[in-house]
Amino acid sequence: MSGKGSSAWFERAQRVVPGGVMSPARSFGRVGGGAPVFLERAAGARVWDVDGRSYIDYLGAFGPHILGHGHPRLVAALAEQLERGLLFGTPHRGEVELAERLVAAVPCLEQVRLVSSGTEAVMSMVRLARAATGRSLVLKFDGHYHGHFDGALVGAGSGAAQSGDGGSEGIPGAVLAQTVSIPFNDLSAARQVAEQHRGDLALILVEPVCGNMGVVYPVPGFLAGLRQLADDVGALLAYDEVIVGFRARFGPAYPLVGPAPDLIAFGKALGGGLPIGAYGGRADLMRLVTPLGPMFQAGTYAGNPLSVRAALTVLDILSEPDVYLRLEEGASSLADGLLAIGRHQGWPLSLTRLGSTWTLFFRAEPPHSLAEAAQQDRAAFSRFFQGMLARGILLAPSFYESWFWTLAHGARELEETLEASQLVFSKG
Ligand SMILES: Cc1ncc(COP(=O)(O)O)c(C=O)c1O
Repeated sequence: MSGKGSSAWFERAQRVVPGGVMSPARSFGRVGGGAPVFLERAAGARVWDVDGRSYIDYLGAFGPHILGHGHPRLVAALAEQLERGLLFGTPHRGEVELAERLVAAVPCLEQVRLVSSGTEAVMSMVRLARAATGRSLVLKFDGHYHGHFDGALVGAGSGAAQSGDGGSEGIPGAVLAQTVSIPFNDLSAARQVAEQHRGDLALILVEPVCGNMGVVYPVPGFLAGLRQLADDVGALLAYDEVIVGFRARFGPAYPLVGPAPDLIAFGKALGGGLPIGAYGGRADLMRLVTPLGPMFQAGTYAGNPLSVRAALTVLDILSEPDVYLRLEEGASSLADGLLAIGRHQGWPLSLTRLGSTWTLFFRAEPPHSLAEAAQQDRAAFSRFFQGMLARGILLAPSFYESWFWTLAHGARELEETLEASQLVFSKG
């Protein structure tokens, strides 16, 4: 239950904002309804609501926070940038430096374009694949979320899976027909689609480790199989690393699980809380982007100095020694502890973790597909969510989302969270 202040603000919000939220995943509709928590301050690993209550933050704004809130170096860099200028509408040094750093950190990236969100990054990548192949069809996977552009809303995960079948009204049938969504980890279904649409398949689009139906890994050989399929039928392979990029290691996550793609997209953690996206890949493909080539993509805020400065600072901090080790150690201690406590109390739980993000699934075995991820004890998740909230622990309000640990989380947060979970799990 949210406090009085959040309830009052939610009342006001619903009069002027559809559903009272600016993005559907923020609704508490799937965890018992009522007012979502209205936050107004954040520092380190903690956030404060409008009633002054504090929470340990594992929502992490759905992924961008890897440093924690208000990292002093990020704040100082942004303050300096505010003085220097917000937006130029011309190229600037920072964006070149960021592009160079991304190209150096990501093996499959020869050239990159900066955009302002994950949606824009993936949308542009899909258009580029179609421009490069002269084909239309995109093969994607149920429960993978690639943003809210028309062609991505077929079998989509995250908030789209929460509110329905992962689709949306308002998209022309002709557009929907250009995307096929099949179960994740089903290579024979992928082969069937690729062979059936041999001359028309432009792109296989996949989250190499899925973060939008909970954290769900590819089975061994799955991504290599997709790579082979794409090559066999002359399609491209793109990884959407908006949620997993720079999360588990400095750079993309894909080297942990599969071969290189032709194209790749980033967002979230890269900006450390400021809006940013990036997409790119092989130089011969990126040369098709305007003004060099015929594939149009643009943006008033693309490469905006504030987001770029944030990303450069995030990369500086993340490239320091042992940063990922610290994230890994903290996250694994908490995730393993939660699993052990919950199981000890008889809850049917399983866990999947990628670096500092994980999902505690309310089912005995970790899922491999959306169909399996959907089979969770949703009522139990709601009770757990509400119980943790009441004890000052903020989680994402959905059993399809993940926990995010940051550099600001430490031994105190670990201890307090395990203590709270002990109380919540023991209540059943
Ligand atoms: C894998 C993935 N791709 C794309 C997006 C869309 O990013 P944004 O919300 O910044 O538009 C998300 C957001 O959750 C995501 O998780």
